[in-house]
Amino acid sequence: MKICSTADEMRRACRAARQGSKRLGFVATMGALHEGHLSLVRAARAQCATVAASIFVNPTQFGPNEDLSNYPRNFARDQELLEKENVDLLFAPSVEEMYPPGATTWVAVDELSGKLCGRSRPTHFRGVTTVVAKLFHIIEPDVAFFGQKDAAQVAIIRRMVRDLHMPVEIVACPIVREKDGLAMSSRNVYLDPQQRQQALVLHRSLMRAQTLYDTGERHAAKLIAEAEQEFAARPGVRLDYFEIVDPDTLDPVADVAGGALVAAAAFVGNTRLIDNILLPGSPDR
Ligand code: PAJ
Repeated sequence: MKICSTADEMRRACRAARQGSKRLGFVATMGALHEGHLSLVRAARAQCATVAASIFVNPTQFGPNEDLSNYPRNFARDQELLEKENVDLLFAPSVEEMYPPGATTWVAVDELSGKLCGRSRPTHFRGVTTVVAKLFHIIEPDVAFFGQKDAAQVAIIRRMVRDLHMPVEIVACPIVREKDGLAMSSRNVYLDPQQRQQALVLHRSLMRAQTLYDTGERHAAKLIAEAEQEFAARPGVRLDYFEIVDPDTLDPVADVAGGALVAAAAFVGNTRLIDNILLPGSPDR
């Protein structure tokens, strides 16, 4: 695995690897890798001749009181995991490399970026789209793999790619979970054993909505009311949102018969966790 720390070096290595129109797949990460990240790498490996990954804890997607300085970092372990998955190229730039002094250019997807997590994290998605646009320009992938775990991120990146005519295909991969249902996340390491148990409330609430949906309920308000009961009387857990939305526009839907994204975010102690499920919609619609 070749490791590059500058944009020029990475671009040159990617262009060389793509010669002969070989398909280059890309997985962007902030490191602290787990099976969720590795599932994206495996999907890329299965579909592409060359696989590139990045590890960059992107400061612009963290709010002022968020966990940028505590964000888990373990480059040596991450490097080993990516080597084992036969990644060809790893981009691990510094903050100064990605944001040259005086950088003032942003890529922002208006409206969508203010929905779901964007409501309580108003600058988050602008940071994500800016860094992902930079990474796409440097790496020039044919296809990029993102996790459905961050469903709003997928919708916003798809919109950015469409609006800016970026020549990259976006593939969304399923959420990888722990055995008990907790969605894997780099932030799960913040949870103490009691909080780790409490964190299951997210998955449980989504399953409760799914169960009611499976009995034929199609009113979003009823599904939400049922699911939110899981959060009632749970000290230590604070619900940020529980919403049922269109997976592309992220606008709330009243009737889920056409399919919908059910997304939840909650603080468990000080740790903000997210999770979601997709309701398929009724076959006759
Ligand atoms: P990070 O949180 O490190 O996640 C990197 C990729 O792994 C994202 O596409 C995310 O959706 C995916 N992922 C995380 N947990 C997953 C799980 N349990 N199952 C499946 N996929 C999972 O998302 C980011 O970094 C950043 O915003 C980034 C896109 C790298 C831009 O900085």
